[in-house]
Amino acid sequence: MQRIPLIAGNWKMHTSLGEARALAGAVVSACEGLTDREVMIAPPFTALATVAEVVRGSQVRLAAQNVCWEEQGAFTGEIAPGMLRELECRMAIIGHSERRQIFGESDGLINRRVAGAMRFGITPVLCFGETLAERESGQTMAVLERQVRGGLAGISVVEPAGMVLAYEPVWAIGTGKTASEEQAQEAHEFVRNLLFEMYEKSIARQMRILYGGSVNSGNVDALLRQPDIDGALVGGASLKADSFERIIHFR
Ligand code: G3H
Repeated sequence: MQRIPLIAGNWKMHTSLGEARALAGAVVSACEGLTDREVMIAPPFTALATVAEVVRGSQVRLAAQNVCWEEQGAFTGEIAPGMLRELECRMAIIGHSERRQIFGESDGLINRRVAGAMRFGITPVLCFGETLAERESGQTMAVLERQVRGGLAGISVVEPAGMVLAYEPVWAIGTGKTASEEQAQEAHEFVRNLLFEMYEKSIARQMRILYGGSVNSGNVDALLRQPDIDGALVGGASLKADSFERIIHFR
């Protein structure tokens, strides 16, 4: 069975409510009539309710940029999975390199987020990727293996659609330096083989692995032609309606 490509926009800490409403409206329009791909957008928490209204009834899926593993309680600054579900938000980016590097999130913490999200019916988009220093010192695959195994420790995936992975080399994020198609495919194939070791073949074969890191309208086609690249996690270019529309319409 073929994997349905997923184009995901991560708005990070951008957009006022007005900007979010307009951008979400443009994404909804850009998706009209598309049946062979899925589209997801992850606004900041403050805009989730606004964007939920705009995307309701469309094929655009709403995601959060993080999620806590607890149902409720004294967890200042965190958002519970049930709070996301109330907003019709059924996906969450977890383990983004900015969470790992700036906010010190560890594989263990990320694993708790993944498990908590799944327990409450939120599809995780688990991010992982090596830094430039790690790549240059030949540690790329070891880092990917540690982050993927760590993030998925104890997680049994029974429904491949309920788990998305995203390879984001840190050196390519927001830098304009995209991994070449070959570099990206090599990492994706490595992770695919890891998934084969971790899960049943039929499940691993269907789990989607997105590429992220300076994806734009000029490089998306070549990246998504690679056999193990099943979509894109787009930062900067997802904030510009025309660029994101072109990415959605990759060919
Ligand atoms: O989540 C998205 C990634 O961090 C990629 O960001 O497209 O601005 O490089 P970017």
